[in-house]
Amino acid sequence: MSSDSAPLHSSAVIDEAVQTLRNGGLVAIPTETVYGLAADARNPEAIKKIFAAKGRPSNHPLIVHLAAPDKFDQTQIDWVALLAPWARDVSEDALKLINQFWPGPLTLVFKKDKSVLNELTGGQDTVAIRAPAHPIAKELLRKFKGAVAAPSANRFGKVSPTSAADVREEFEGMLDLMVLDGGDCKVGIESTIVDFSSGEGAVLLRPGAITPGEILSKTGVKVYLPGENKTSNEEKVLPKVSGSLKAHYAPTTPLRLYASGRVLDALSEFPDTKSRVAVAVWDSESSLSHDGHPSARFEEVEVSSDSTVFASRLYRCLRDLDQQGWDLILFPEPPAGEEWDGVRDRLQRACFGSGPSSNNHESN
Ligand code: TXA
Ligand code: MG
Repeated sequence: MSSDSAPLHSSAVIDEAVQTLRNGGLVAIPTETVYGLAADARNPEAIKKIFAAKGRPSNHPLIVHLAAPDKFDQTQIDWVALLAPWARDVSEDALKLINQFWPGPLTLVFKKDKSVLNELTGGQDTVAIRAPAHPIAKELLRKFKGAVAAPSANRFGKVSPTSAADVREEFEGMLDLMVLDGGDCKVGIESTIVDFSSGEGAVLLRPGAITPGEILSKTGVKVYLPGENKTSNEEKVLPKVSGSLKAHYAPTTPLRLYASGRVLDALSEFPDTKSRVAVAVWDSESSLSHDGHPSARFEEVEVSSDSTVFASRLYRCLRDLDQQGWDLILFPEPPAGEEWDGVRDRLQRACFGSGPSSNNHESN
């Protein structure tokens, strides 16, 4: 057994979760990115329960999560055989990414096998697949001997949960949900999504911890941005990804970004001088000076200037601040550089969808 497969849950609890999945129920599972709301990927009724619980439109496709076999030597895993029931036309380039990054925070989109349920793909002819690396997700999937469909375990448009407590809070009073507690998610933002389904190159649909630069340097495969290679067509790509809606991952407290040194500019939209404002500041910078501002009450929260650490704490920080009753949350604009693309993407969408009306925001 590999060292990370030690169960954090008793195997009786995992067995109960497996049984719940077999019975067509939902189980919230930890993954290395965010918590997922899992159902048997071959059971249409179970999949419908996911959409109902999340309040997610039925044409927004889900990711299939496959078990990574418990092999010490990852290169010995026969991913082609494991993918065969789900995906068609798995290219050599796709296999290079799989061998390098699975199990891990990378989702790949392929043409779907005809057996894959329309309920899962939102009626599309493609399917998104990943093998999560979290030991509990791996153990559950191995025991289940199937695949689970799992979106992030949040209400549609809201901040994704990175702890078991976040999941419980998200569905409190609505759903009696079994939640497997795997601790805090290490990556903290959702998986990188790369689309191979056009058969003509790889296209980045959602930035995440694994960047195109890392993919290129470790596999030699070039991943294009949407619209960057002539075969991809942004209009076709964008509606496939619910996280690509402008407003997403959003807190109910208004959230804005400020350019370096320009906190006061970001306040101009909020003329109420009694505002209580939480300001995230880089840990690498000395404290802000608020001299000269009328009377808004500021409190500083330090955020890491390391992109990996920042990502791992972003949703935790947004959730905590959202509960503290601030009138406004300010975050510094992430610096340039692709290692920041994942958090920049999430922060921009979170800003767009934030505010008290985000509960019924049409595009959340
Ligand atoms: O890290 C993650 O990916 C997490 C954990 C739980 O695995 N899952 C996650 O799922 O973020 P969800 O449903 O919140 O986001 C999945 C994204 C959606 O934006 C969806 O539109 C996109 O994947 N997606 C699913 N199937 C697709 C397909 N066939 N083509 C393009 N995008 C697809
Ligand atoms: Mg989500």
